[in-house]
Amino acid sequence: MTSPREAVLQLLAEGLNKTETGKRLGLSRHQVRRLVAKDFDAPAIKWGHGAAKLVAPSTKERTELVVFGSDFHFPYHDRKAIESFLWMIHKLQPHRVVLNGDIADFFQLSRFNVSGDRIDKLQEEIDMANEFRRLVRAKAPNSVLDETLGNHDDRVVTYVHKNAQALKSLRALTREELFGYREHDIQGHPGCGFLLRSGFLVKHGTMVRSEAGASAKAELQLSGISGISGHTHRLARYVKGGYVQREWLEQGCFCRLDPDYVTAPLTGARVVRSGSSPPRRTTSSYTRCPTWTASCASARRRIDQDNQNPSLD
Ligand SMILES: [Fe+2]
Repeated sequence: MTSPREAVLQLLAEGLNKTETGKRLGLSRHQVRRLVAKDFDAPAIKWGHGAAKLVAPSTKERTELVVFGSDFHFPYHDRKAIESFLWMIHKLQPHRVVLNGDIADFFQLSRFNVSGDRIDKLQEEIDMANEFRRLVRAKAPNSVLDETLGNHDDRVVTYVHKNAQALKSLRALTREELFGYREHDIQGHPGCGFLLRSGFLVKHGTMVRSEAGASAKAELQLSGISGISGHTHRLARYVKGGYVQREWLEQGCFCRLDPDYVTAPLTGARVVRSGSSPPRRTTSSYTRCPTWTASCASARRRIDQDNQNPSLD
């Protein structure tokens, strides 16, 4: 059976214009335009979609050591936390380092940016993020570097697809070029992330629930296998028992925990008692983003035992 879109494309190919095509199929001109636009709008690999590919082991040793960091959000990054991350990979020299998405924030490209904030800072943010990639490569020169695509990273490509389609074939506007993948020998994983092993998914994350742990559970239920994700900026683990135990880790973030743009409800208000005075409610800086945690994760994975999940720390 022919889909509406196929029927529209067929009639257009026969030489009918959009109004005539719409009349023939009982569609408005606007509906015809939307059906045709799909041909141009969708990037080849949509963020969060597609099949995850299994990556090859990064070492011939029995155990592979992997370090994960995510949600750096340059220029809203936490400088000290990132220094600790770089120091850690320098000391550990892991076999694999995973940058699990949202390296830059790209607020100027956000549909929420109605005030034109940071509109002339795009190149500056790309440079900051690429300097970080360069430092990661310098601190772990022999590691395999993997990078998944976060929803914020995706804004560059999506913006071009939505607003400047005639530019989308430019090589200079691909992720590989903009994010320095070739220069720093980084394996980019757009779409749904990648499989570290057949039963363990690494992804930026697409699910956000109101509480830490609930998002981890939702990711596990969505994929059906164990894994790790960022996206929520929280730190939590969900373990599902059974014949085969599975677990999912939300790995925290490396961005500031009190960025200017966050107007989180002050739900974390504390009750303070002083002496014999009645309790009073107060707020403090931590209550602006009470559920975000600056953290990263590491995993040890036995190369020779594909039926065992990596041990996450
Ligand atoms: Fe993020």
